[in-house]
Amino acid sequence: MAPDLTQTYTKLGPEGTAAAMQTLFFPAMIPIYRNHQLIPQEQADLVAFFERSAAETKPEFPWTTEILILAAFVLAIIFVVITAFVWRKRLRSVRRELVATATRRGARP
Ligand code: HEM
Repeated sequence: MAPDLTQTYTKLGPEGTAAAMQTLFFPAMIPIYRNHQLIPQEQADLVAFFERSAAETKPEFPWTTEILILAAFVLAIIFVVITAFVWRKRLRSVRRELVATATRRGARP
């Protein structure tokens, strides 16, 4: 998947963006554009477009990754609690029976 280019202009600046449009020298794109360079009009249009997209959109909300990680942990805990509740009678009773039987037969608990 290719990266989100919304903030490309902020990252590369006016000259950087113009230079990038001239060569499109990015590993995945080299085979596609090596023999099909953008014409100056296309380059200028793309630079103008990137300039506008960078000005119109705010940078991404900074805590997205942290919130997702936290949400994953909270969900995991909720699932563990649900599992412990739904299957609360299962293994423990079996084990208690086994220990009781073994103890009756003389094994030390
Ligand atoms: C005129 C069309 C295109 C323009 C202006 C363009 C522009 C760019 C720019 C500026 C970057 C660098 C982003 C950065 O480092 O933050 C980039 C990277 C990338 N682009 Fe494009 N791109 C175009 C078409 C394509 C196409 C058609 C593909 C795939 C079929 C593609 C795949 C990628 C990939 C995978 C990267 C990540 C860097 C790499 O591994 O090369 N791009 N592109």
